Amino acid sequence: MVSDTFNKLSERAALCAGKLKQAKTVHLVSHIDADGITSAAIMSLSFERAGIDYTAEFVKKLDERVMARLLEENHELIVFTDLGSAMVDFIVDNSMAAVIADHHQPGGRPENIAPDSAAFPYHINPHLFGANGGFEISGSGVSYILAREIGGKDMNNTDLAGLAIVGAIGDMQNRKYGKLVGLNREILEQGVEAGVLINALDLSLFGKQTRPIYRILQYSSEPYLPGLTGDEEACIRFLQNAGIGYSQREGAKLWIELSADERRAIISALMKFCDERGFSSRRTQELIRECYTLLNEKEGTEMRDASEYSTLLNATGRYDKAGIGVRVCMGDRKEALSDARTLLSEHRKNLVNGLNFIRENGVIQLENIQYFYSGEEIKETIVGIIAGMATSLENVDRKKPIIGMADSEDGIKISSRGTQDLIRRGMNLSKAMSEVTKAVGGAGGGHDIAAGGTIPPEQADEFIVLLDEYIGRQLNQ
Ligand code: C5P
Ligand code: C5P
Ligand code: ZN
Repeated sequence: MVSDTFNKLSERAALCAGKLKQAKTVHLVSHIDADGITSAAIMSLSFERAGIDYTAEFVKKLDERVMARLLEENHELIVFTDLGSAMVDFIVDNSMAAVIADHHQPGGRPENIAPDSAAFPYHINPHLFGANGGFEISGSGVSYILAREIGGKDMNNTDLAGLAIVGAIGDMQNRKYGKLVGLNREILEQGVEAGVLINALDLSLFGKQTRPIYRILQYSSEPYLPGLTGDEEACIRFLQNAGIGYSQREGAKLWIELSADERRAIISALMKFCDERGFSSRRTQELIRECYTLLNEKEGTEMRDASEYSTLLNATGRYDKAGIGVRVCMGDRKEALSDARTLLSEHRKNLVNGLNFIRENGVIQLENIQYFYSGEEIKETIVGIIAGMATSLENVDRKKPIIGMADSEDGIKISSRGTQDLIRRGMNLSKAMSEVTKAVGGAGGGHDIAAGGTIPPEQADEFIVLLDEYIGRQLNQ
C-alpha cells in the first residue's frame, strides 16, 4: 500500500519519465552532496537500464549564472536532481526543456510552482503535494520515484531504494523523529521488500562497520561525549570498566564483530556515563537510533551502513570529486572506492580542524542567532556540515540557530542550522535565508531546519544584523 502523496508524486514522475524516454539524449545536473550524488546514481542506473543516453555534471549550487550557461549549451533535455525547484521561473521564461526531481522549498511565481502548473508540469517535488522535503523525502527519494516510473512494470528499480535511503540519511532526514518517516519510510519498506535494506535499533555513533570500538567513542561528535571524545586512553579505560576486557586484539574489534551481550554492555555503560554527566534524557536517548543496513554490500565496508556511506560520498562531492562518489554508487569497488577512501580520511581531518576552529575561536552571540566567520579556515562546501556538528559543542547555544560563514569564490558562503524546537517556535531558515540574502544582494534558500546562501563580502555585517532581526520576528510571531 502506498500513500496518496506517493501516488501523486508517481503520477507526476510518470509524466516526466515519458518525456525522458522520448529524448535522444538527456543532460543530468545534480548537487555535490551525498543526496545529490545518490540522486545522480539512481538516475544514471535507471537511464542505463532503460537505454537512455545521458551526460552528467555536478554543481555546488544552481544560480542564474549556471542556468545561463546551461541555456547556452542548448541541451535537448535537462533533468535536475536535488536542486532546481528555485529556478522554475528561469526555465519557464527561457522555454528550457527540463525535468526537476527536487525536495527543496520551491521558489518562483505562484502560477509556475502551483501543483497543477500548466506552464511547467515536469516538476516533481513533495512540497507541491503537501509533504515536507526537509524530513519526509530527499532528492534521492524523489529521484527513486522517477526511476521507478522509468523502469515501468517490467523493471521497477526498487533495488535502488538503498541509494535513496543513503541520500536521505546524508540530508539527516532521520533526525526529527530518530528514524525515517513519511515517504522515506515507504521507500524503506519497498527496499526491505526488495531485500536490499534492513532497519534496526542500534548504537547511533558513527563507524559501526569500519572502526574499532574505542575509535567510535574517541571520534564521537554527535553526541559529543565530554571526557571520551578526543581521548583515546579514556575510551580504552571506559571499555575496560564496562567489562569489555580490553586487549589490543579485542580493542581492535569492530562494533559489528561484538556479541550481542558485549554491545548491550557498552550501550548501558554509555547511558550510565551520560546520566552521571548530567546529560538530558533527550541526549542520552540519542545514543540509540534506528539504523539502516544495505544488505547487498559487504560487511565491514562503509557502503554497508547508510550513515557511513553518505559520509563517504560527501567526502568526494564536497571536494569537487562527485564523479568518484557516483562510480562507487554505481558499483565500482576498485579504483573509485579506493580514491573515495583517500578523500574520506582528508574529509575527516577537515571536519576535526573545523570543529577545533570553533572550539578555539568561539561563536558570537546575538539576541536571536549565533554565528562564526571562518574566512578561508573552513572550506565553503563543508561549513554547513561543521555548523551542524558544532551544535554539540559546549560553547554553542542550542536555543539559537547557528550561522557559519566562509569565504568563497563569488562572495561569502552562509550556512545556517536550527533545531526542531526553534521550528516549533516559528523559525524557518529557508525563508530567512532567501529573504535576507536577497535584501543584501545575494541569494539563498533550503529547508526550514537548514538553509544556505551567498552574499557580497562587504554586506556581511549588515546581513548578520538583518538576519538577527528577521529570525527575531519569526520567533515572536
Ligand atoms: O542540500 P540539501 O537539501 O541536500 O541538504 C540538507 C541539509 O540539511 C544537510 O546539510 C543536512 O545536514 C541538513 N539538516 C540538518 N538537520 C536536520 C535535517 C537536515 O542539519 N534535522
Ligand atoms: O550549503 P548548506 O549545507 O548550508 O545548505 C543547506 C541547505 O540549503 C541545503 O539543502 C542546500 O541545498 C540549501 N541551499 C540553497 N541555496 C543556496 C545554498 C544552500 O538552497 N544558495
Ligand atoms: Zn538534498
